[in-house]
Amino acid sequence: MNVLGIETSCDECAASVVEDGKKILSNVVASQVEIHKPFYGVVPEIASRKHIEWIIPVVKDAITKAGIRLKDIHGIAVTSRPGLIGSLLVGVSFAKGLAFSLSIPFTGVDHILAHLYAPHLEHDITYPYIGLIVSGGHTIIAKVTSVCSFTVLGTTIDDACGEAFDKVAKYYDLGYPGGVVIDWLAQKGNPLAFRFPKPSLHKGDHPYDVSYSGLKTAVVNQLDLFWNKKDGKNPENIAASFQKTAIDIIADRVVMAVRDTGIRKVVAGGGVSANSYLRKRLNEEKGMTAIFPSVQLCTDNAAMIAGLGFHFFAAGEKSSYDLNAEARVPLFRRVYP
Ligand code: KG4
Ligand code: ZN
Repeated sequence: MNVLGIETSCDECAASVVEDGKKILSNVVASQVEIHKPFYGVVPEIASRKHIEWIIPVVKDAITKAGIRLKDIHGIAVTSRPGLIGSLLVGVSFAKGLAFSLSIPFTGVDHILAHLYAPHLEHDITYPYIGLIVSGGHTIIAKVTSVCSFTVLGTTIDDACGEAFDKVAKYYDLGYPGGVVIDWLAQKGNPLAFRFPKPSLHKGDHPYDVSYSGLKTAVVNQLDLFWNKKDGKNPENIAASFQKTAIDIIADRVVMAVRDTGIRKVVAGGGVSANSYLRKRLNEEKGMTAIFPSVQLCTDNAAMIAGLGFHFFAAGEKSSYDLNAEARVPLFRRVYP
């Protein structure tokens, strides 16, 4: 079964054809990074307008690169939540229209679940496992029991992990998107040059929760020293020290979840799972296995959407034409979706 995946939840306009939930026939990602760069962040109105301009050529490109024709597509999967509402609506409306015109089923797909599906495209992974979703918009540690269900163990109480990378890079004028440039600079820096605080959250009912706003503020407060070029206050050291702290915050909680649940497999997804220190840190951890997608499948793509959508179609599920896009998904602490 060939599934066409469509992803427009944020600033990547992406389409992909995946066969039987596993074999990627094409994976086209048209990035808006250059357009949003001057603003150091995604401008929602610009993003949705670009999706409208780009969606048809991107889908056409994905079909051509897959070496198939429109009639060879058996179902369409589209990100319907969570994300920027205007951007989501472009993908959802387009998917509905194309599915209707081809008389094939379509299904809405949850972006968070799809990020966790990305490593399944490249590895044979069995359930259960501890899922780690770390991206620009999400920071979630979950117990994952099937392709479409997980229980959230912990999440951020303020900023997302990737958001902290992006904000720090913005204040220090390091470049955009922040995660990529900080990862790169950090490789030449001393991670112990600065001692940044780690949040000491009230353990209570939510021991796996994390926080990034305090760390972000602490790093930004070093700006004066940085501009005055005090000893060792260079971008590489800032990047390395921030990165180590930001990643240790989440990695410590993941290790704790592995220990507490006895589930010794960790599967990661989302833009920050491309981070070289996160990969090293979890791969070196004793008594557990960590599985990461390849770097191009960490960030937003439509192959993960098509791959996950296949499982819905295979189970006989499809969405109706009144499916709506949802910017946010409630009830984050219990069961998902
Ligand atoms: O998954 P993604 O493309 O979009 C969301 O669903 O949010 O993630 C984008 C985020 C950005 O915050 C970006 O700075 C971060 O992933 N990112 C990284 C790296 N590559 C991308 N963060 C840390 N290290 C990286 N190598
Ligand atoms: Zn994403």
